[in-house]
Amino acid sequence: MAHRQPRLVLLCGLPGAGKTTVAKRLVQELSAVRLCPDEWLAGLGLDLFDDEARERVERCLWQHAQALLASGAVVVLENGFWERTERDEKRLQARAVGAAVELCYLPVPMEELERRIALRNNEPGSVVLTAELLRNCQNQFEPPTQAELDLFDAPLL
Ligand SMILES: Nc1ncnc2c1ncn2[C@@H]1O[C@H](COP(=O)(O)OP(=O)(O)O)[C@@H](O)[C@H]1O
Ligand SMILES: [Mg+2]
Repeated sequence: MAHRQPRLVLLCGLPGAGKTTVAKRLVQELSAVRLCPDEWLAGLGLDLFDDEARERVERCLWQHAQALLASGAVVVLENGFWERTERDEKRLQARAVGAAVELCYLPVPMEELERRIALRNNEPGSVVLTAELLRNCQNQFEPPTQAELDLFDAPLL
């Protein structure tokens, strides 16, 4: 089997920013493995707004991501990574196992997020997000600075 340097891609952005869309492209173009906490929560029958359940799922997926990195995979985490501390932690831990680490930040203006979420809310099976919830998310979001972005590896694509 071909050996390559393992790589972790952190998808950073608010709901509607396009994380899942980008992640699916990386699956196609880099044979990456996509790990999406929202999908695992839904698949396990858990509430997407249950913070404790989300933390447990994210911990499990991070264990799995580390095993995948150890076998040389490109791993895409769709957690959203709103907090600087989460991004620092993943960057340092992935580098410690010899992986390159990309931070893919998807900055999108609020009006555009609202437009996309309104469209997605109408799709069958989607989890409905209100405009109010989206604004709460924005208040919690710590956008990466250029200095932080410079700490990561250059993107492959
Ligand atoms: N660059 C883009 N321009 C316009 N619409 C987009 C773009 N990227 C994603 N979308 C659409 O916006 C919605 C949210 O995208 P998605 O990838 O699910 O975001 P996220 O995973 O960050 O919540 C989807 O309906 C998707 O088709
Ligand atoms: Mg998504």
